[in-house]
Amino acid sequence: MKDIKISIIGFGDVGQGVVQVLSQKQQTLEKLGVNIKVVAIADSRSSLVNADGIDLKKAVKVKRNTGIVGRRGSTTAEIIKNTDHDLVVEVTPTDINTGEPGLTNILTAIESGKHVVTSNKGPFARNYAKLMKAAKDHGVVLRYEATVGGAMPIINLIEENLAGNTIERIDGILNGTCNYILTRMGEETLDYQHALLEAQELGIAEADPTYDVMGIDAACKLVILANTAYNNNTVFDDVSITGITKITPQALELADKNGYRVRLICEVSEQVLSVAPKLVPKKHPLAVGGTLNIATIHTDLSKMVTISGIGAGSIETASAILSDIIHIYRACLANTR
Ligand code: HSE
Repeated sequence: MKDIKISIIGFGDVGQGVVQVLSQKQQTLEKLGVNIKVVAIADSRSSLVNADGIDLKKAVKVKRNTGIVGRRGSTTAEIIKNTDHDLVVEVTPTDINTGEPGLTNILTAIESGKHVVTSNKGPFARNYAKLMKAAKDHGVVLRYEATVGGAMPIINLIEENLAGNTIERIDGILNGTCNYILTRMGEETLDYQHALLEAQELGIAEADPTYDVMGIDAACKLVILANTAYNNNTVFDDVSITGITKITPQALELADKNGYRVRLICEVSEQVLSVAPKLVPKKHPLAVGGTLNIATIHTDLSKMVTISGIGAGSIETASAILSDIIHIYRACLANTR
């Protein structure tokens, strides 16, 4: 049995989802020959460390009852640097402008020789190349499947299953909130404010929903996809962005009458980086409804591969994080053989 000691930095919905999934999947992990022990958890105001493994149920209970997970006093950097562990799960809230606190957390982890798995898009918006270089220089792995499309395994699909293919283009829907709003407004004639409120109630919208409706969240995911597919140092400011705030019910009705849906479409290629509302024929694969995400990857060898899945949610995001942790553990085992 291989022991992996991890910390969880950020203990909101996603951090708690990771803890829930780790508890739920203990037997599955045992069958895989891995014992994941959480030795540190930090939120923005406190931290909890136990070298023998934290009582996860109790940690969630304390967080829910008190708003904090442990004691005040230590900084996140101290927890990352000074706790003996192998891998940091970085799941603090996304800030696309500064990338913080995720950017510093990830760099601190890398520089102290720890692997990193993250769902945080913000650090990658302007620093993808810097982060990947830092990981390479320090001989650790940085994985980020959960940053794009939640449970939809698109990063691994590009990097592993389609390895050797030339990625000609990726078209997709990468923001569940916008898709939900456009579906509710277009097909069920709900007004914009109510549709947005519903998306917020579903827990899929960003803390600041302008990130969603202005196309900023989708653009950030597009930056991550472009760097993954082309390793071309794409940054947020390279993306042409139009959100959904100017779409009227009349425009949606007209589209519907003519056999189209309006969807916020991301287009990624070596020439084009764009997020914008587009008309999509109703029977087109990209015309998915509700909160779903979808992407079609156009390649030279495999031609078109389309993948769809749930793009947000704490358990779905935790699923992508768990798969990244398992991947790193397998790679480490292979290296020690
Ligand atoms: N607000 C995002 C969305 C959450 O609606 O898709 C997942 O990144």
